[in-house]
Amino acid sequence: MIHPPAQSPADPASQPDEPDPQGRHITVLRDAAVDALRPRGGGVYVDGTFGGGGHSSRLLEHQPPVQLVVAVDADVDAGPRAVRLTELAGNEGRLRLFHRNFRDLGQVVAEAGVPEVDGVLLDLGLSSFQLDEGERGFSFRHDAPLDMRFDQTGGITAADLVNTGTAGELARILWMYGEEKQSRRIVAAIVREREKTPIGTTGELASLVERTVGSRKRSPTHPATRTFQALRIEVNAELEALSAVLEAATVGLAPGGRLVVIAFHSLEDRIVKRFIEAASRTCVCPPDAPICTCDTIPRLRRIGKAVRPAPEETAINPRSRSAIMRVAERLDREGAVADQGSRA
Ligand SMILES: C[S@@+](CC[C@H](N)C(=O)[O-])C[C@H]1O[C@@H](n2cnc3c(N)ncnc32)[C@H](O)[C@@H]1O
Repeated sequence: MIHPPAQSPADPASQPDEPDPQGRHITVLRDAAVDALRPRGGGVYVDGTFGGGGHSSRLLEHQPPVQLVVAVDADVDAGPRAVRLTELAGNEGRLRLFHRNFRDLGQVVAEAGVPEVDGVLLDLGLSSFQLDEGERGFSFRHDAPLDMRFDQTGGITAADLVNTGTAGELARILWMYGEEKQSRRIVAAIVREREKTPIGTTGELASLVERTVGSRKRSPTHPATRTFQALRIEVNAELEALSAVLEAATVGLAPGGRLVVIAFHSLEDRIVKRFIEAASRTCVCPPDAPICTCDTIPRLRRIGKAVRPAPEETAINPRSRSAIMRVAERLDREGAVADQGSRA
């Protein structure tokens, strides 16, 4: 039997169907995240989730100027936004955007020709641009092809998954990634439906789920919210990519460099928290071992506690309500705190 993740349920506020009231993309924790990187003049920084460029632009505004922002986004639509940012701010040469998955961060940094970076920032999930563009199939507010890929140039779509996945696979996905208690009922309805006609659109899937589980009167979220979240996570292999990028970022950071991650639901945040804890450990000997023999060298140290947006920010940007930011710093080869004087 598959058990759902043990902690809190997915936060409904983290769901993609919560647009900014004005329909704009507002960068979450823009100042706080960039300040947490502690940028230094001449430094090289990775923005692993370029999106609309809110964090990148803030980094490029920093004084004294940083040398380079290596930006990454799996979405080709981020390209024109990077060009605009370059033109607007005259950042010619200081911003390079790579259309890649951030799990390949090591290769991207090598291609950018930088041996080490001074900070890595990840603002996970999807942007309001992707949500608002109905055609991308992330939202049941727009009836559109059931796509949900961050990278539209390849990979399977949510429609492929829903129409070809086995009942067991689909139930596991809804249970694990959506923490959907009615996963089996929903999957049984999907299987019945697709035997008649393939499920092709967000609207078809949303109404199928609604018919199956009913609308929850006391819940502010649509009954298909968890199903949509689960499919999106699977389509984009989001949790695997996150684990890979955390490791690649740690390897690529210069001593004293910072890793800053903003997560939007408990599954992501748990991975980030556990990764930082594991990389900060000074000993992995069994608890009953009389002396330490493991010679573990920690790679990171945690900086402060998890940070959440202030009420002023959540009032302006409801999507930020579920954000949780964690920060860690790269230690040197001996596992010691790097000499900050050399980074000023
Ligand atoms: C929340 S948005 C980032 C917003 C950005 N910080 C800003 O200020 O505009 C997340 C972005 O990360 C991208 N993304 C998500 N997962 C990714 C992955 N595994 N590899 C590369 N890009 C990814 C999405 O396409 C989206 O554009």
